[in-house]
Amino acid sequence: MNINKTRKIYKDKKSIFSNNHSPLALFKTWYSEAEKKVTEPNAFSLSTTYRNKPSSRMMLLKSFSNTFTFYTNNNSRKGKDIDSNKFASILFWWKEMQRQVRIEGYLKQLSESTVKKYFYSRPRESQIGALSSNQSSSLSSYNELVNEFNRNNIIYKNKKIPFPQNWTGFQLKPSLIEFWQGGKNRLHQRIEYKRKDKKWEIRILAP
Ligand SMILES: Cc1cc2nc3c(=O)[nH]c(=O)nc-3n(C[C@H](O)[C@H](O)[C@H](O)COP(=O)(O)O)c2cc1C
Repeated sequence: MNINKTRKIYKDKKSIFSNNHSPLALFKTWYSEAEKKVTEPNAFSLSTTYRNKPSSRMMLLKSFSNTFTFYTNNNSRKGKDIDSNKFASILFWWKEMQRQVRIEGYLKQLSESTVKKYFYSRPRESQIGALSSNQSSSLSSYNELVNEFNRNNIIYKNKKIPFPQNWTGFQLKPSLIEFWQGGKNRLHQRIEYKRKDKKWEIRILAP
């Protein structure tokens, strides 16, 4: 299928170069703006590697300040990747705003108490869902998962859901953040912040 006629014309946007923000403050501003226009602004793509082979998947950001936090299962493919290489990249695409943010850095596993606190703040059904799914392992059928969910739903009726082993969270400490704003005639604006000697080095990049 040839799809090379699919071409979105981007409108010109105000300059992103005139700010004196730190990239984390700029991310906060862009995130607040995305919250007003984007359905799931917290959805991002996480890329990890194992033996030089990258793999990507969508995730949900759960908090950010100087680091970016997400939760997952350590037994999954990404968990195994992260075990071998803590360097990862995350990517936001806020289509409605013609904005992309790419972030790279090292991942640090969250403490069990932090992860548990978040786990028990989730709806009961989500807790049972997480308990019932050994993420990224093979299932004989989809029904196996549904049956496990129903079984746990009965077993733990009116009881505290046991904390699933391997359920965990990570925070990414950024060493590079790049902001991309779509513009007219493909003259997109790009600004890169790279961490060096405890300061952010700033470069404007050609689109
Ligand atoms: C919008 C969206 C958000 C997701 N959020 C998460 C998440 O926060 N944590 C997670 O473990 N998986 C999340 N997933 C599922 C992952 O994309 C992926 O299927 C799963 O984590 C297994 O990936 P892996 O086998 O590469 O480890 C999300 C999927 C989508 C489409």
